[in-house]
Amino acid sequence: MRLDKFLCEMNLGTRSQVKAWIRQGLVGVNGVSVKSADTKIDEDSDQITLRGQALSYRKYVYYMLHKPVGVVSATNDNTAKTVISLLGDHGSGNLFPVGRLDKDSTGLLLLTNDGELAHLLLSPKRHVDKTYQVTVEHMLSEQDIHRLEQGVDIGEEKPTLPARISVLDENTVLITIHEGRFHQVKRMLQAVDNRVTALKRIRFGGLELDETLPPGSYRELTEEEIAILQNVKKSAT
Ligand code: URA
Repeated sequence: MRLDKFLCEMNLGTRSQVKAWIRQGLVGVNGVSVKSADTKIDEDSDQITLRGQALSYRKYVYYMLHKPVGVVSATNDNTAKTVISLLGDHGSGNLFPVGRLDKDSTGLLLLTNDGELAHLLLSPKRHVDKTYQVTVEHMLSEQDIHRLEQGVDIGEEKPTLPARISVLDENTVLITIHEGRFHQVKRMLQAVDNRVTALKRIRFGGLELDETLPPGSYRELTEEEIAILQNVKKSAT
């Protein structure tokens, strides 16, 4: 692999920053400073350093973002700000959001370059749990809750799969669904003549939103959180 690609894939900086560091002699390969960005390295056996600090190759990176209102869950957009842009220099690798939250939704969004994991988490066959804290226009009746728990008609071929509902207060409920249809939660509430006024994802595939992260901020997943995701991968093999 090229040295500049290696440094970019580790999300250390943009391609041009990485090239500048190499030119400035800040990057070492097996103890020798190299100045050429296209130097070929073996990411598994060569010792790479940046400013004297050893770097060990991580093929995959995982970030938890607390998505704020007003940004789109995309890598590029002509008009709106994207979730990738919120990651600053860390968003310079081949990261993408795992699934989507609407522009006006908030909460837990996983960003990674691990395509296999994303595919598993999003596969309709795997029914990965997603929990949303939902503010509704008016209080749900017992009957509404029952209907949502059984599955409702949202104008598609099949009704939604059974959901779990837990009422927090008059206007706030937690809804756990096991699929990811377009605008699903909003359409489910419409199906019971209600309306979502705010929607925040708090859990996704065993991960919980870190409530110490203010909206718009992000952090790397911990080892424990990565292990939770690895279990999703293992259980698929
Ligand atoms: N369901 C919705 O309607 N919107 C979201 O952003 C997520 C789930």
